[in-house]
Amino acid sequence: MTTPSLLILAGDGIGPEVMAEVRRVIGWFGDKRGLTFDVTEDLVGGAAYDAHGTPLTDETMAKAQSVDAVLLGAVGGPKYDALDFSVKPERGLLRLRKEMDLFANLRPAQCFDALADFSSLKKDVVAGLDIMIVRELTSGIYFGEPRGIITEGNERVGINTQRYTESEIERVARNAFELAMKRGKKLCSMEKANVMESGVLWREVVTRVGADYPEVELSHMYADAGAMQLCRWPKQFDVIVTDNLFGDLLSDAAAMLTGSLGMLPSASLGAPMENGRPKAMYEPVHGSAPDIAGQGKANPIACVLSFAMALRYSFDLGDEADRLESAVSAVLEKGVRTADLLGEEGVTPVSTTGMGDAILAALDESL
Ligand code: IPM
Ligand code: MG
Repeated sequence: MTTPSLLILAGDGIGPEVMAEVRRVIGWFGDKRGLTFDVTEDLVGGAAYDAHGTPLTDETMAKAQSVDAVLLGAVGGPKYDALDFSVKPERGLLRLRKEMDLFANLRPAQCFDALADFSSLKKDVVAGLDIMIVRELTSGIYFGEPRGIITEGNERVGINTQRYTESEIERVARNAFELAMKRGKKLCSMEKANVMESGVLWREVVTRVGADYPEVELSHMYADAGAMQLCRWPKQFDVIVTDNLFGDLLSDAAAMLTGSLGMLPSASLGAPMENGRPKAMYEPVHGSAPDIAGQGKANPIACVLSFAMALRYSFDLGDEADRLESAVSAVLEKGVRTADLLGEEGVTPVSTTGMGDAILAALDESL
C-alpha cells in the first residue's frame, strides 16, 4: 500500500502555532505506531496572498485535489480586512471546499467531563454532551447566484441568493442519516420552512431520504427554534443536519456549549476518490484568533482532534483516533489548561507547546 499523503495548510494567525503541535503528533504516530504519512506543506489565506497575491494558488489547489487528506489551520486577520473580496483569505478556504466538493461538514460538539464547569451553561445541561452537526458546505447562500453589490437608482444593493437543488440536499441528508445510524439513531433537520422555499424543499427531501432509514428517528425544527433548544437542553440532540449558513451559526453556538471554541475539530467530506477514501479536509472550528497569534497562548486541541478525525474518516484508523482522543481527555483530567480554558482558581496556563508536550506524554502512556 502506498504511504497515505497529507497536505498541511497552516494558514494565518494561530494556524501555524497549533499546526506545529499536530506535526509533532503526526511524528509520534510515525515513530511509535509505524503509521507514516507523506506530509507536504503549503500556503493558504493571507499567507498565500502575501507570497503570491492570491489566497490559494492553482498549484496548491491541484495538490489538495491529489492528496488523501488536507489539514487546514485557520485563515484571515485584520491585516487583510481592506483587501478586495475576491482575494480575501477566506476565499482560499471557500475555494478548497467548493472545488474539492466537500459537501458534508461534520462538526462534533462534545463536552469533556473535565471542562463541564467551564461552560457558560449549567453543568447538568452540558455534562456528557455529545452531538454532531452536519453542515452542508458547498452550496446555499454562500455560493448561490446572483450575488454581488449592484446599483439600483441612486443607491447600492447587496445581493446573495439561497439556492439548493434536490440532489445537494439529498447527498448531505444521506450522509447525516448514515452517521446517525452509527450513533444514537436520532436526526434533527433544521431550516426555515416557514419563510423560505429552499427550506420547504429541504424538509421534503430530508423526509424522503428518511424513508430509507426507518430506524432513525427524524425530527424537523425551524433553525431559530433549534438555536434556542441548543442553548436550553442540548442533550436532546444526537445528529443535526442543516444548511451552510444556519450550520455556520449553529455550530459556533454548539461549540461554545462545550466551554471553548478552542476544543472543537471538524471534517469536511466529499465523494469517494478512486482509492475509496472520501475527498477530505480537516480543520478546527475556531478561526485565526489574530489577537493572540504569535504568543504561544493558543489551544492546539481543536487542531489535534481534527487530525484524530482524519485518522477515523480518511484512514479507517478508528482505534488510533480513539487513542488520540483519550490522550486529550487524559490531559484535561490532569488539569492541564491553555489560557482559553481558565476560570478555575489556582490553575496556571500552559503554552501551546506545553499542551503539545502533555498530549505526547499521554500518548506515550497509552502504549
Ligand atoms: C467556518 C468559518 C468560515 C465560514 C469562514 C472563515 C469563511 O466561519 O468555517 O465556520 O463561514 O464557513
Ligand atoms: Mg463559522
